[in-house]
Amino acid sequence: MENPAKGNWKDPERVKHLAETYSLRYGEIFWNSVSKLVNQTDRSVIADFGCGSGVWLHDAGKRFNATFLYAFDASEEMLEYAKEILDASIESREFETHCVDFDTDSVPLKHNTLDLAFTGYMFHEIANPQNFAKQVFDCMKRNGVFIVFDFVSGNPEEFITSMVRTGMDEERARKRYPHMCKHADDDIVKILESAGFISISWEAIDGFRVIAVGVKG
Ligand SMILES: C[S@@+](CC[C@H](N)C(=O)[O-])C[C@H]1O[C@@H](n2cnc3c(N)ncnc32)[C@H](O)[C@@H]1O
Repeated sequence: MENPAKGNWKDPERVKHLAETYSLRYGEIFWNSVSKLVNQTDRSVIADFGCGSGVWLHDAGKRFNATFLYAFDASEEMLEYAKEILDASIESREFETHCVDFDTDSVPLKHNTLDLAFTGYMFHEIANPQNFAKQVFDCMKRNGVFIVFDFVSGNPEEFITSMVRTGMDEERARKRYPHMCKHADDDIVKILESAGFISISWEAIDGFRVIAVGVKG
């Protein structure tokens, strides 16, 4: 059965659209929050779980002066695009792309690998975010940070207005609200806590999106 929280991420048009709308989703407000919540030192090894088009990973690589990037996604089409973006980068950082479905597969990284892990707009799509967060925790280095950016519940009208503005029809946005905004901000914090993260801080980007950050102590 179709997962109502999930888009069709194999559609080449959706892949392109996601890349083209990157700066709308990851604008100044997002990066200002990240600077507040994350100790802005260099982060050598970065992974993006559900990396989509790879534009965030490319951007984060520059901002955190990374040396190695991991791109994970269940969509081969997304990963193909991400590979092109990362290959074309003038900074030529080393990277790997991996096709992994976190609903069925494990995170394919050794313990003690990552300085920074990120997931953007994917937490609500995966079957078991608690199990996923624990796996991410296991592959973080000490003092590594996990940033979760996702939709949250509490403000359906603001969510619907925003979705309509980006091209979704209103009826569909209403139907998708309980699936895309299935977590409260508290739920995300609790998931990070139960996975083992400490010093959890979070900030609302607007009425329906939150960034939460946990540290591996
Ligand atoms: C809404 S898109 C966001 C992409 C990117 N993070 C961004 O913000 O531009 C969600 C991404 O998560 C991926 N995804 C969803 N469920 C997944 C799963 N179970 N395992 C791996 N990737 C998944 C999709 O293929 C898609 O690329």
